[in-house]
Amino acid sequence: MKRPIAYIAGTGYAVPRRAVTNDDLAKQGLDTNDAWIRDRTGIGQRYVSDPDETLTVLSTNAARIAMAEAGITASEIDLIVLGTATPDHLLPATAVEVQAALGAGRAMAFDLGAACSGWLYSAQVAEGMIATGMAETVLVIGAEVLSTIVDWTDRNTCVLFGDGAGATIIRHVRTLPRAESRERGILSSYGRSDGNLFDLLWRPAGGVAEPFSEKVSAERRQFVRMEGREVFKHAVRSMADAVDRALDQAKLTPSDVDIMIPHQANTRIIEATAKHAGLPMEKVFVNVDRFGNTSAASIPIALADARRQGRVPDGSLVLFAAFGAGFTWGSMVVRF
Ligand code: ACO
Repeated sequence: MKRPIAYIAGTGYAVPRRAVTNDDLAKQGLDTNDAWIRDRTGIGQRYVSDPDETLTVLSTNAARIAMAEAGITASEIDLIVLGTATPDHLLPATAVEVQAALGAGRAMAFDLGAACSGWLYSAQVAEGMIATGMAETVLVIGAEVLSTIVDWTDRNTCVLFGDGAGATIIRHVRTLPRAESRERGILSSYGRSDGNLFDLLWRPAGGVAEPFSEKVSAERRQFVRMEGREVFKHAVRSMADAVDRALDQAKLTPSDVDIMIPHQANTRIIEATAKHAGLPMEKVFVNVDRFGNTSAASIPIALADARRQGRVPDGSLVLFAAFGAGFTWGSMVVRF
C-alpha cells in the first residue's frame, strides 16, 4: 500500500507529581549513589506515582493534551490503543477506562502488551486499522506505573524505571489540508519479537500462570527481574538493525534524519545504538536523565517533550526505535 496513510497530529505527556532523585533513593536506604546511577545509566531522577495517580489518570491527562494539540474532541476518536505492562486491572483493559474518562463514546478500545515497545507497536496497529478503513482518528497511548512492579530493595533494577504516560493522536492523511498530505506522515515501519529470550527481562509471578502466594512473595517473584548485560547487548543490536530496515524501506539514509527519538532505556544503550546507526548524538533526543526508563511511555513522552522544546518542528524527519521485554523491538520513520 502506498504511504503515507496516517500522520501524527498531536502529542502530550503526563507524569506523577513526585520526582524521586538518585540521592532520595540512597537516603531511603538503598545501597546506591548518584554517581553510579548517572555514570551507568544517565538517569538523575524518575517520577513515582501516588495511589491516586493511576494508569487511567496519567493516560487520560496525557490524552487531553494530545487531543488539544490535534484540535479534536473525544467524540472524533474511533480507536484507543494503550501500550502497557502495568494495567490498572487485569480485566478489563485500562484503555476502556480511559475511553470512559474522556467520554470517547464512539471508540473501540483495548490494551496492547509489548513492554517497552508498547507505544511503537500500538502506533503500528493504529496505522494498520486506518489503512483498512476501520478507523480515521486513533488515540495511541504508552503508559506505565512501573513503580508498582519493581523491587524497591533491588538496586540492579529499581533505579532504572519511572512512571508516566505519553499520548499521540494518529489520523488518516485525508484529514490534512491537500498540500500537506503528500509529505507528512508515517513513511515506514518495522517490528519483530523473539520469545525465546522472554526470561531475560520479566515478571515471573502475579499473573495467571503463577498467582500471588506466600512463596512468591518470599522469593519476590512478583517483581521485575532482569539480566542487565544481556538486555544491553540485545537492545543495541536489535534497535540498530531496526533503524537500518526502516530507513531502507523509506529509501532514506541516516543523513536524511533530523532527529532520532529512541526508547529511553539508558544513555549508554542510546549512544551505542546511535553509533551503530551512523547518527551523531546532536541528532538524538535524550530525556532519560529526567524521566528514567518509563517503558511503553518513554517514546511518546520523549516525542511530546521534544516537540515542546522545538526539537521536532513541522517538516522534520523523525526516526523512532524501540526495544523491550519479550524481546520486542521495532522502528518507524515519520515526517512531521
Ligand atoms: N548502585 C550501585 N551499584 C550497583 C547498582 C546501583 N544501583 N546496581 C548494580 N550495582 C553494582 C553491582 O552489584 C555490581 O557490583 P559487584 O561488581 O560488586 O558485583 C556492579 O555494580 C556492576 O554491576 P553490573 O550489573 O555488571 O553493571 P553494568 O555495568 O552491567 O550496569 C546496568 C548495569 C546499568 C543495568 C546495565 O547492564 C544496563 O544498562 N543494562 C541494560 C538494562 C536496561 O536498561 N534495562 C531496562 C529495561 S530493557 C529496556 O528498556 C530496553
